[in-house]
Amino acid sequence: MSTIQIKDKKFALSITDAEIQAAVCKVAEAINRDMSGKDPLFLCVLNGAFMFASDLMKNVNVPCQITFIKLSSYEGLYTTGVVKEIIGLNESVVGRTVVVVEDIVDTGITMERILASLKAKGASEIHVATFLQKPDALQRDIQVDYIAMKIPNDFIVGYGLDYDGYGRNLKDIYTVVAD
Ligand code: IMP
Ligand code: MG
Repeated sequence: MSTIQIKDKKFALSITDAEIQAAVCKVAEAINRDMSGKDPLFLCVLNGAFMFASDLMKNVNVPCQITFIKLSSYEGLYTTGVVKEIIGLNESVVGRTVVVVEDIVDTGITMERILASLKAKGASEIHVATFLQKPDALQRDIQVDYIAMKIPNDFIVGYGLDYDGYGRNLKDIYTVVAD
């Protein structure tokens, strides 16, 4: 099995690029079916969702717009529970159908904050597309419309997700190995 070292941790290959691409295509197909005629605004949550958003959007074929916000909550392996907004939303979402594009819904704290903010700003319909979900880590009651893959509650890197800023460039997903 392929393992890699990032800083002080070992990670083992857990989801391959081919499996990722197949799962992302399925989400795009569902979005193409549901979002037809809705002129959606896709809202990519940086940094982690940049790869998922890129692959997803190449397979979305309904007329749409895409924009970005930047949030941060993790330090090393753990969420701080405090979501910092680093780059906010410039566009008006009043009356818009918004699809939030996330790398992973973990505790759900980040997504809860994004959803509340979009509602307060007047979005008429809000949907969530996440590449990954850790169902066992969820602490908030949020509705996630599109989930490419569900994974166990272990720390992972790759495909946009990082360990202390490293590993985002990996095209496969790796899971931390207990030491
Ligand atoms: P939540 O607020 O706990 O749902 O966490 C959301 C953010 O934490 C995600 O958007 C990721 O950026 C980050 N995150 C959660 N789990 C992991 C992980 O296993 N590896 C790397 N980043 C993670
Ligand atoms: Mg994220």
